[in-house]
Amino acid sequence: MEAIFGHTKLILELGDLTRHRAGAIVNAANSSLMGGGGVDGAIHRVGGHAILKECKAIISQIGRLAPGKAVITTGGNLPAENVIHTVGPVWHGDPRQAARILASAYRESLMLADKMAIKTIAFPSISTGAYGYPVQAAAETAVAEVKKYLLQETYLERVTFVLFSREDLKTYAEVLEKVTETDGDFTVKY
Ligand code: APR
Repeated sequence: MEAIFGHTKLILELGDLTRHRAGAIVNAANSSLMGGGGVDGAIHRVGGHAILKECKAIISQIGRLAPGKAVITTGGNLPAENVIHTVGPVWHGDPRQAARILASAYRESLMLADKMAIKTIAFPSISTGAYGYPVQAAAETAVAEVKKYLLQETYLERVTFVLFSREDLKTYAEVLEKVTETDGDFTVKY
C-alpha cells in the first residue's frame, strides 16, 4: 500500500529490512549499540564488522544512545548505504510515555536522514518485538509521526515500512488507510 504526504511517497511492504536497498535503513537497536537479536542482530550479521566498528566509536564518544535518539553508521555489506540506529521504548504499559519516545525515535531518524541528504529511508516496526510494544498502538504512533514530518519541509523522496509479518503489514495498512481517509492534507492513496 502507498500514500503521498507532501511530495514524499510512504510505502508499506512485507520483507527483510537487511535486503532493502535505500540511502538508509533504520535499526531498532539498544542503548549499547553492540547488537542484539531481532532486526538489530540481522543488520549486524549481514552488514558485517564495519557497522560494529563505527558503533563502538560512537559509544566511546557518547557513552550510550538514549531511547528516542538516533545516530548513523555505514551500511557495511548491506544493500543500504547507511544504517540509522535508534532506540525505541521498552513497553511497560504506560502508553503516554512510550508513545512520546517512540515518536521521537522516528522523528530523530527522519531528521538525521534529512541532515545527511539521504532521500530514501526504510523502517522496521520499532519496539514491537523484544521491547513488547503492541503493534496496533506502535503503528498509530509511527504512521502519525512520519506523516507529520513529511508534511513539513523535507528532502526525503521515499519512506518505507518494511514489515516482517503479514499480520504487521495488515495492521500498518489499516492504520495508514484510516490516516489517509480522515485528513484534509493532500494525500493520494494507490
Ligand atoms: N527485517 C524487518 N523487520 C524485522 C527483521 C528483519 N530482518 N527482523 C525482525 N524484524 C521485526 C520484528 O518482527 C519486529 O516487528 O522488527 C520489529 C522489531 O523487533 P526487534 O528487532 O525485536 O526490535 P525491538 O522490539 O525494538 O527490540 C529491540 O531487541 O534485538 C534487540 O538489540 C535489540 O535490545 C534491542 C531490542
